[in-house]
Amino acid sequence: MSSSSDNPLLRFAAFWWALGVFMLFGVILLVLKFTSGSAGKADPLEEAAAARRYEIRQTVTAAQEAALGYKEVEKGKVVQVRPQDVFELVGQELLAAKPVAVAKPEQIIPGSPRQLAVANEPVVDVAAVDALTPAADAAIDPALIEAGKAQYMAGTCFACHGPNGEGGPVGPTLTESEWVSGPVSNLIRIQLRGLQGPIQLKGATYTPLAPMAPLAHQTDEQIAAVLTFIRNSFGNKASAVLPEQVKMLRSEVGKPMLTEAELIKP
Ligand code: HEC
Repeated sequence: MSSSSDNPLLRFAAFWWALGVFMLFGVILLVLKFTSGSAGKADPLEEAAAARRYEIRQTVTAAQEAALGYKEVEKGKVVQVRPQDVFELVGQELLAAKPVAVAKPEQIIPGSPRQLAVANEPVVDVAAVDALTPAADAAIDPALIEAGKAQYMAGTCFACHGPNGEGGPVGPTLTESEWVSGPVSNLIRIQLRGLQGPIQLKGATYTPLAPMAPLAHQTDEQIAAVLTFIRNSFGNKASAVLPEQVKMLRSEVGKPMLTEAELIKP
């Protein structure tokens, strides 16, 4: 009965003390939040977005100012501009101000208008590409073969065609393949556009489980090196492939996957 916790006055005081301490914590937290938050560095993405919004706002304002109100249609004849013309003008200005479409060819979206436009572009002169092919017996820099071997692994060819070009469940063999030692333009175009559907390979019809996807992210040098490597490995013996030849065919990127009918018979 004499315990201090039973004292109503003490309990009352303790309650207010606790409430005071609790509020004090809250105030400290708030102060911390506001001092650290607002003084923090600006987010570059937010800044860029804000700058873009500001630019668009200015474009709209300028377009509205140009169109709103009255316009002199003939010398001395001023007419009021129709509201729908204002909207149209603003729309045109916005379309013209749109940032340019993504220009990287490997980012062309399948089925997009850009891809359809690319698909209708004329085929590059493959004969001109093949005409540059060095003589079959010309010496090849061993460093180029080494680079090609590295690219064969890095470019994931080995995953489908096997570490020794022996082929596997998802890729045909590259050993003594008439395609590998055949026209260089075929090989480059397969790298840039991929290949789908059955092909005649070593006297039999090979029907792939899944097509070979385009590997156009590789540089001209990497494609030239990996093709030079496969043309001089796995029982194949053929000329080197030049980066210039790959470059000449870059406009193939983005077109639909090739079929055997679009290649030169090796
Ligand atoms: C995802 C699996 C895959 C990867 C990765 C791949 N290929 Fe292919 N490749 C295929 C398939 C499947 C075919 C056959 C496609 C067809 O017949 O329609 C093929 C066909 C070929 C052919 C012609 C046929 C032959 O066997 O001679 C060559 C040459 C070739 N690939 C080279 C390469 C090179 C070089 C790389 C790496 C830069 C590579 N491939 C990466 C799956 C792949």
